[in-house]
Amino acid sequence: MPISERVARLGSGVFARNDQRKSDYRQYCSALSAADPSSSPAPLLDLSLGSTDLPPPPQALAAMAAALTEPGSSSYCLHASTRPFREAAAAWARRRFDVAVDPDSEVLLLVGSQEGTAHLPLAVLDPGDRALLLDPFYPSHRGGLELAGARSLLLPLQAEQGWRPPFEQVPSSQWEQLKLMVLGYPHNPTATTGEQAWLEEAAARAVQHGFVFAHDNPYVDLALEGEAPALLRSPHWRQCGIEFFSLSKSWCLGGFRLAFAIGAAPLITALRQVKGVVDFNQSLALQAGAIAALEQAPQWPQQLRATYRERRDRMMGALEAQGWPVQRPSMALYLWLELPPVARAMGSEAFCAALLKGSGVALTPGNGFGDGGEGWVRLALVHPAAELEAGAGRIGNWLRSFSG
Ligand SMILES: Cc1ncc(COP(=O)(O)O)c(C=O)c1O
Repeated sequence: MPISERVARLGSGVFARNDQRKSDYRQYCSALSAADPSSSPAPLLDLSLGSTDLPPPPQALAAMAAALTEPGSSSYCLHASTRPFREAAAAWARRRFDVAVDPDSEVLLLVGSQEGTAHLPLAVLDPGDRALLLDPFYPSHRGGLELAGARSLLLPLQAEQGWRPPFEQVPSSQWEQLKLMVLGYPHNPTATTGEQAWLEEAAARAVQHGFVFAHDNPYVDLALEGEAPALLRSPHWRQCGIEFFSLSKSWCLGGFRLAFAIGAAPLITALRQVKGVVDFNQSLALQAGAIAALEQAPQWPQQLRATYRERRDRMMGALEAQGWPVQRPSMALYLWLELPPVARAMGSEAFCAALLKGSGVALTPGNGFGDGGEGWVRLALVHPAAELEAGAGRIGNWLRSFSG
């Protein structure tokens, strides 16, 4: 059966591999319980996905439910019908960044921001074109470049430098050859909020060298310390850039796949053309929910921050008590942990597999975010604090049995 080389290059993906391991673990627990009803294998505690347990705003769900039975909601939705959503997104951008955005030419509805970042390279690059991305990166950033047959150049982030992009390491000849740069701060997986100055530098270089600057910003509302950077705050965004926002994290609507891009009109048009052969937008019923979230629940992300801050602080304390100290993340949702010294030699993927088997706790191996993530694992704060603390206890017990 012919399968493309591009698919081989994509590989299975960290989330798919984790999914398989979690499914195997669940089956193992069921088989054990069936064989010996008195056995009590540790149930799966899934801390491997940034898919929150926190609820979305009721106004959003009510608007979706009310629109669900309208005939338009079960029809294909072409671009023109997304206008109410695009207007709501433009109004949000005005409130959030004090920037005037044209809903017709500068806003595009997406079926999740991951979809947008994965398709963007097809819209702006030809095979062999060069694109710069952070390492570690979010998987759709690299995956989109692979799909487009582009050449990825990696900008290695270092803990010692606070995970800032080391632009000074890029030789000047390379800036000239670039067609696209993809950044994302607040940064997943390192849980670093980042600084506006980093984006300003990136935007200035994009304008100077004529490449596209794509900024993936689904966590814009979820900085725990300080304010998140945004390309839309840069005076250069219209000259060079496109920024991706999402309803998944700020309004807890991840499963509904609602997001949008705001950017320079030619980039929005090009991405829209690519999507024109791929999808018919999200259902109008779900768009109604997104509009309600943006307009009626603008403060939703703020109360999430308080919950994530408490979870972060309690989980850091709990892990430290188990002998696994953690660097303090400045954004919500994740802890980014360096492998304990006893486990460094095994690598992040084998560590996560063994931890799951031994404790029932699922984390994400850092190598799934690129070579720069090797030696680290990501823990998502997607359970109540008490459950996270109990998870830290399970991890600690396993670590002690592992070292001992
Ligand atoms: C950096 C980054 N971009 C995109 C996504 C996916 O967001 P969405 O649900 O909007 O596709 C995530 C999800 O974890 C992410 O961390």
